[in-house]
Amino acid sequence: MFHGLEQRAFFFTAVLVLVVSLAGVIEMIPSLAIQPSQPIVVAKPYTVLELAGRQVYIKNGCIACHTQKIEPIKHETDRYGTYSVSGEYAYDRPLLWGSSRTGPDLLRVGNRRTTDWHEIHMKDPTSVVPTSVMPSYKHLFENRADIATAYADANTQKQVFGVPYDKADMPSLGSWYEANAQAIKEATLLVADMKNPKVKEIVADGQIPQIVALIAYLNTRR
Ligand code: HEC
Repeated sequence: MFHGLEQRAFFFTAVLVLVVSLAGVIEMIPSLAIQPSQPIVVAKPYTVLELAGRQVYIKNGCIACHTQKIEPIKHETDRYGTYSVSGEYAYDRPLLWGSSRTGPDLLRVGNRRTTDWHEIHMKDPTSVVPTSVMPSYKHLFENRADIATAYADANTQKQVFGVPYDKADMPSLGSWYEANAQAIKEATLLVADMKNPKVKEIVADGQIPQIVALIAYLNTRR
């Protein structure tokens, strides 16, 4: 039988290709059947308010004590949650991975801390964590967030890097007036969960204290 096969070149080639590709198919089947082991990441661009908060984070040197990168090691994932994957950082310009951990990792801090917890902690860390060495950030309750620069930042990211602002299901920028109104709207929703009456007053007057922008940013960390 094999002798006959070898004498018919075309038929022989066809059988050979079939047998070799069968091995390939058998190897592929398990990878098609099982669920992907990595979480599927759907990153969203930051809103203008969240970007303003990210600038507060950068300006105040939070990166000197905090990382935003969870390693795929058991004690890391036990403490901080699912390890980081690249897609999560799609809209992080510049990256804020950090390398020093005087304080905990903050990549998923939004899953374990609430708006009002941040409010108290940022003003006076030792009032909630008595052993904390984190400085107090009282000035964030007075200083205003720079929404105009955040709006320029978002537009730059849209033009230069093609960040999909204004596309369906994505944050919209629109005109400066629209973007500013949207930031105030988001800030108004956020301060409803805060206690500080002065911060609420400032937002009601159409301005945004840095603490509000910062917490909006921290709440995106999930
Ligand atoms: C000198 C180092 C240092 C700096 C700078 C610093 N932190 Fe911290 N941070 C810590 C330490 C230490 C802790 C743990 C104790 C505590 O909760 O206060 C902490 C805790 C936190 C937590 C709670 C995390 C958790 O899982 O409970 C948040 C949120 C946080 N910091 C945000 C910030 C932000 C935002 C800034 C910048 C405005 C900042 N930190 C700057 C040292 C620092």
